[in-house]
Amino acid sequence: MTTLGVNIDHIANVRQARKTVEPDPVQFAFLAELGGADSITVHLREDRRHIQDRDVFLLKETIKTKLNLEMAATEEMLEIAQKLLPDYVTLVPEKREEVTTEGGLDVKSNMKYLKNFVENLKDSNIEVSAFIDPIVDQINYSKEIGFDFIELHTGKYAGLTGYDQYKELQRIKESTHLANDLGLVVNAGHGLNYNNVRKIASINNMNELNIGHSIVARALAIGLEKSVREMKSLITTN
Ligand code: PXP
Repeated sequence: MTTLGVNIDHIANVRQARKTVEPDPVQFAFLAELGGADSITVHLREDRRHIQDRDVFLLKETIKTKLNLEMAATEEMLEIAQKLLPDYVTLVPEKREEVTTEGGLDVKSNMKYLKNFVENLKDSNIEVSAFIDPIVDQINYSKEIGFDFIELHTGKYAGLTGYDQYKELQRIKESTHLANDLGLVVNAGHGLNYNNVRKIASINNMNELNIGHSIVARALAIGLEKSVREMKSLITTN
């Protein structure tokens, strides 16, 4: 059965907009678990634009499911991961100027560096995933490097419609089967929402979907009315 990893970076985005203490992503991880999240995903970025070091260490202590740390393959992040010991690490490409992770990691061009990096993480008993585009070469090289998982980038699928989306779905399906045949566990994510998720979730042997933006957007949509009512009641009752 396909499981759900909830990415809570956007909760931290709202907090960091004011550099205050709320909303606290650690508390929201608890709520995500209450709703059935099978794992909690956070991306600790080099620029710390949303998730902070304090968040990842508190999450590690408090969540009851699994912690998936998304990070760039840098020495700074390696040191943090080795201290934190998350259940698994997902290596992603990272550019300071991007709004969100734009493309998959180019494992093919960085093979030697990544092999050593992945080995270091595995020596600390951390399972390692590569966030890659659904491309045959990238899958083969992920296996060669020693990744345990891959996470297939579904951003392109999410941005297409009609026959183009169907073709991209086929590419994701074929990539999943190829990776499975090589012994890789397959996750997927990026841009998945309440309309487009089912076709990805029903791919045979799809392990976990990592979803953030649409879940947080939905939380605002279904929660705002209640929070306004509570404020209104404080203002209007003596
Ligand atoms: N997977 C990875 C590797 C990501 O970088 C992100 C975005 O932070 C997601 C999944 C979740 O994407 P979205 O927020 O579009 O659901």
